Amino acid sequence: MPKDIYMLMRMCFKVVVTVSMRVINSEPLVDDWLCPEIVDRESERKKIDKYIFSYLLDGKQPLGSYYVTGNSGSGKTFVFKRMFENNRTRIKQLLPRFECIYVNAVEIRTPSSASIIQEINKSLEHYLPLQIDGETINRIKNWKNAYVQMNILKNLIRQRELNLVIIIDEVEKIVQYEKDDGFIYALTNIRSEFIGKNYGIFTIFISNDKSLFKKLPLKTTSRIPFDDNFSNYRSGDLFEVLKIFSKYSLDEPNDEILINIANSIASTSSSVRDAKRLLYNFIELGDMEKALNALDRDTLWDDIRKLNTQQRVVLFAIIQGIRSVREQQKRLIPTRYKERILTSKRAYSIYCELAENGELIKKTSWRTFQRMLQSLRDMDIIRYEKVSIGRGKGWAGMIEPECNVDDIEFLLRKKT
Ligand SMILES: Nc1ncnc2c1ncn2[C@@H]1O[C@H](COP(=O)(O)OP(=O)(O)OP(=O)(O)O)[C@@H](O)[C@H]1O
Ligand SMILES: [Mg+2]
Repeated sequence: MPKDIYMLMRMCFKVVVTVSMRVINSEPLVDDWLCPEIVDRESERKKIDKYIFSYLLDGKQPLGSYYVTGNSGSGKTFVFKRMFENNRTRIKQLLPRFECIYVNAVEIRTPSSASIIQEINKSLEHYLPLQIDGETINRIKNWKNAYVQMNILKNLIRQRELNLVIIIDEVEKIVQYEKDDGFIYALTNIRSEFIGKNYGIFTIFISNDKSLFKKLPLKTTSRIPFDDNFSNYRSGDLFEVLKIFSKYSLDEPNDEILINIANSIASTSSSVRDAKRLLYNFIELGDMEKALNALDRDTLWDDIRKLNTQQRVVLFAIIQGIRSVREQQKRLIPTRYKERILTSKRAYSIYCELAENGELIKKTSWRTFQRMLQSLRDMDIIRYEKVSIGRGKGWAGMIEPECNVDDIEFLLRKKT
């Protein structure tokens, strides 16, 4: 968070710090709680109503697929979950075989196409048994083949005449994991098998990566006629959300504090999640500086939770490398023998040692390693930039942590 904003926030909060407010229920503030009310998001909801609910509430299968992007904390997951929750009973009366299945790629250990479809099939296990090519399928097993899982899904829809809505959240994690966007195509493709039927599948892809959609091939995007971007919340919206949340979690909400928190977050991340947590931290710690530090740790934890095993090992290698540089700086040896910075080459060699000595991962190529460094940089966990390492010595990739290394290590070792 920029220092001047941080100073400003401290000044604002000095005035109001004495106001008493107590948390009577922490869940709405600290978790991604499914608030009973949706605040604002009118234009987003209108589109969702038009392209999805106007069909389902007319007893019809919606057409095409939907693709949604937006910054973290802009309400993407919440709005879809809440809207389906609100309409489920009415839809079920019209379409008894309606199912809405939510899968978040971050929550799947290995987010491959096969495991994502397996997760979907598992949610539909109560529609088994199925007959496929003369064989009876009684249970969904851990078949690692995406084709096998996909075939079961298609047969479930066809034989049970299901009206499926699948929400694939954080879809970019699947594309990153597989280094391929075939999964998105495959899901949009199976719906074309049910065109003209009163059953079928409608997929909603949610992603934080705004550039992913533009990178998809035409054969895929032509099957996704609807896409939307959830805009960033402004301070008035954040205030409204905080006000609603206070109703469920605080004894005596104080508007002045809520406005200050909303203004501060609107000028930084615009995330509702951050606004809720900052409010919680501030009440609990009674001090803005401490509350902001705690928020930094919370957001770092969000990012670390989402890392895959390869990225985690890379981060462990960086921590080792940084500690070794710091150790050398302290030692009484001539300066020219001391490592001054952690270079990407050095981090790669530590990473290779960790990969070869451990059982968690197979070591990847230098190019893939660099891509993983870039992904950690994009999440603001590290800084990674090209620097000159002295006259005639050329350039090196310098790595520095953006946060405290002890915090990073603690969170890496913490169980999700
Ligand atoms: N319009 C809103 N009305 C009420 N609560 C909201 C609204 N938007 C967000 N929230 C709250 O903020 C939390 C975070 O929002 P959400 O999980 O939808 O963000 P997101 O855009 O999916 O972020 P990410 O990309 O990090 O997953 C929700 O669980 C909900 O508690
Ligand atoms: Mg989300």
